[in-house]
Amino acid sequence: MRIAITRDVSPSLDDCELTHVARTSIDVARAQAQHRAYQRALASLGCRVLALEAEPSMPDAVFVEDVAIVLDEIAVMTRPGAESRRGEGASVTELLARYRPLRAIEAPGTLDGGDVLRVGRTLYVGQSGRSNAEGREQLQAAIGGLGYRVQPVPIRGCLHLKSAVTAVRDDTLLLQPAWVDASSFPGFAIIEVDPEEEHAANILRIGDVAVMPSCFPRTAQRLRDAGIEVVAVDVSELQKAEGATTCCSLVFEEQAAAR
Ligand code: GLY
Repeated sequence: MRIAITRDVSPSLDDCELTHVARTSIDVARAQAQHRAYQRALASLGCRVLALEAEPSMPDAVFVEDVAIVLDEIAVMTRPGAESRRGEGASVTELLARYRPLRAIEAPGTLDGGDVLRVGRTLYVGQSGRSNAEGREQLQAAIGGLGYRVQPVPIRGCLHLKSAVTAVRDDTLLLQPAWVDASSFPGFAIIEVDPEEEHAANILRIGDVAVMPSCFPRTAQRLRDAGIEVVAVDVSELQKAEGATTCCSLVFEEQAAAR
């Protein structure tokens, strides 16, 4: 069974962290409705969707991806780069402990899950303002013995590595060339986002399906032309909070029964 951990949208979403997106007013009720539709989309793709309660005092807590990296063998609780987000992990820790042995990134390390793109046994980690060298080194130490390798990737002009590049297949990446160089990913086939759709590289892969924001039809067509099935969801209010489709869930195989 495939699990998707999510968290309901905080009523304080409008006070979220913003780095590369200008602040505009967020309709929180609409964001909550869009998030419920996102959860339904994941359920329709076969995920068992677990919904943590909203955290009223944590505006960004809906973006659960940033607080953990879930591998087949273990999960690594991160230490988010934004201080305002460091309390978000506690309830996710409690839930994930039922499914995986846990490790943790400790100070002075910082790491946001949005910076970690796993393809096979390689974890590409964005050199962003949120994830530092100490965080990457601690991640390598936590997972090296399991046969994983951390590969740092320079990025520019965006929040996280997965703002700039995500995997649509094991051998194919969707990439925004303005924010990350394709040369960081030798051996992969590259699909570039449509030039008019700056933020379109962040897609959530569920099996062979790409879950992506509905406001990027040109990039969606590029994926369909490459034979990739696309499910489009309207997440416009979450995008105002510098979120997208990967950030709102932690998706993994349940494997062993919950402990
Ligand atoms: N608003 C998402 C983040 O900055 O972490």
